[in-house]
Amino acid sequence: MRKNFYVVGNLKMNLLSREEATQYISLFQRELQGKRFERVKGIVCPPFLYLSQFDNLPASIQKGAQNFFPEKSGAYTGEISPLMLKNDGVEYVIVGHSERRRIACETDAMLHNKTLSALKHHLIPIVCVGETDEERRADETDRVLAEQVKIIFSSLSKLQAGTVIVAYEPRWAIGTDRLPTTEELLQVRVLLLKLFTEMFDAQTAERIAVLYGGSVKSAFLPAVSFEARMDGVLVGRESLFPYELVKMMGVLEYEAERQEQER
Ligand code: 13P
Repeated sequence: MRKNFYVVGNLKMNLLSREEATQYISLFQRELQGKRFERVKGIVCPPFLYLSQFDNLPASIQKGAQNFFPEKSGAYTGEISPLMLKNDGVEYVIVGHSERRRIACETDAMLHNKTLSALKHHLIPIVCVGETDEERRADETDRVLAEQVKIIFSSLSKLQAGTVIVAYEPRWAIGTDRLPTTEELLQVRVLLLKLFTEMFDAQTAERIAVLYGGSVKSAFLPAVSFEARMDGVLVGRESLFPYELVKMMGVLEYEAERQEQER
């Protein structure tokens, strides 16, 4: 089977003006010039305000949103609907980033509802899961991940589950420059495969892409994506540098090609 990797840039609440967004996009265009990516999908998630400006990127980069409200339309002041995103050319949406769990008190039950709503509107949810530092130190990582996954994926069909992307983002690794070991990552990968096999079946479990997020830098990619068998990365700070995102895509494209030749 052909291996596909993902590089997702979560720009968070950055790029402070239309001009800054334009500058970011033109740097991105320059970095992508003459490069082809067949096995790597690049996804960039800017603030809502700039989404339409990101139409100007080449086809190797797709648009994602950082959040949405799980209703189609109506009296929801200040919210953005999944249909609005879809109609604006957005293909992916981040669901349950730990910053939203913390700031907006999003619960797993709410994230289950958002995941279903995203799927209903043909958006691919990038569902974030991960433990806190405290939970990790208490050796509760497996329990926490199992609980999050079971609630968020409950009642999804096999077909729906197979289209979801999971991002394992341990909260203690976000914005801290602390990283899990390759072994810890591999354990999470194996745990998620086991959980999804139990909930759905082995083929579905294989189809659910699992990314790693938290202090990702390009030098860490071999450990994440090859040794720990993750399907790519969700990138915060480094995604503010288009050069870094394109470099990560290049590393993964090369690796996917190498893996294909080995088979
Ligand atoms: P950093 O890469 O800045 O640690 O952020 C990770 C993240 O939260 C991506 O969603």
